[in-house]
Amino acid sequence: MAVVMDIWFLALVLGGFVGRSSFGNNLITEDDYYQRFQKILSNEETARKLNENFLGHQTRRLYKRQVNLEDHLDVIIVLDSSSSVSKGEFARAVIALQDLVKKLRNDTNYAAITYATRATTQFNFTNSFQTEKKLLALERSGGKTNTQDALKRCQEMFVGDQYGARQGSLRRILVVTDGQSNINRDETVTRAFQLKLLGIEVFVIAVGEYLEGIQEMVQMASSTNAHMFRVLNMKNLVEVVKLIPNRGQKSWLEESFAGMTSEEDGEDAGPLRGRM
Ligand SMILES: *[C@@H]1O[C@H](CO)[C@@H](O)[C@H](O)[C@H]1NC(C)=O
Ligand SMILES: *[C@@H]1O[C@H](CO)[C@@H](O)[C@H](O)[C@H]1NC(C)=O
Repeated sequence: MAVVMDIWFLALVLGGFVGRSSFGNNLITEDDYYQRFQKILSNEETARKLNENFLGHQTRRLYKRQVNLEDHLDVIIVLDSSSSVSKGEFARAVIALQDLVKKLRNDTNYAAITYATRATTQFNFTNSFQTEKKLLALERSGGKTNTQDALKRCQEMFVGDQYGARQGSLRRILVVTDGQSNINRDETVTRAFQLKLLGIEVFVIAVGEYLEGIQEMVQMASSTNAHMFRVLNMKNLVEVVKLIPNRGQKSWLEESFAGMTSEEDGEDAGPLRGRM
C-alpha cells in the first residue's frame, strides 16, 4: 500500500494528471514525455512520417470505420497565433501550410482557425484552391495561448453542418503550435479527447527545441507516433514540407524509404494507453 501511495505521489508531482488507467501497468510521468519526445527527427524522417500518416487516406486502427479511397478528407488547420510565435515564424508557418495543401489530394477541403487569447475562425471549409489563397491572408494576432478554445471550435465546425464539412468525410485537425496552453489549460486534453471520440484524428506539429508542456501536445495527438511531429522551428517545417512529394508523384523520399517500416510506425502506433 505504501508503495502504491508513493507512486501516486510521484506521479502527481512529476507528471500531473496523466490518466486513471495508466496507473498500475504503465506509469507515464512528465519526465518520460520529455525523454521520449525530446529528440527531433531529421527533416527527411519527419517528412516521411507526415507523408505516410497525414497525407494518406488510410486511417489508423483506432478508427473502426471502413475507409474507402473515394472518401474525402476535411481538414481544419489550427495555427498558434500567440505572442510566443514571432511574426516571421508565423509567416513561415503559413508558407509551410500552403505548400502542404498543394501536396494533399486536391479533393481535400480545409477550414482554418488561428488562436491566441481566443480562437478565431479564419475561414470555413473550402476547396484546396481557395485555401491556398485564404491562407495568405492570415495574420498573427499575438496574445495568450487558448488551445482549448480552438479545439472547441473544431468540434463545432465538424458537428454543425453550416460550416461546410462534408457528410461522411474523413476528418482531421492539424495543430501547429510552439507551446503549452495557458488559458483554461485543464480543458485542453479533454477537448482533444472529445474530438477523438467523434472519430476526428488530431495531428500535432510541435515547434521548438525544448518545449515546455510537451506532455499536453502529446496528449492532444491521436497517437504518439503517427500523429505527433516535432520540428526545431518554422523554417524547418517549410523544409520538411518541401521534401514531401507532390500530388501523384513518387519522390526520392518514398523511394529511399521504400520497404522500410520503422518500429515506431508499426503495432505501437495506437493512442497512448490511458491518455485520458
Ligand atoms: C484534381 O486532380 C485530378 C487528377 O489529377 C484532376 O482530374 C482534377 O481536375 C483536379 N481537380 C481540381 C478541383 O483541381
Ligand atoms: C462560417 O460559417 C458560419 C455559419 O454559416 C458563419 O456564421 C461564419 O461567419 C462563417 N465564418 C467565416 C469566417 O466565414
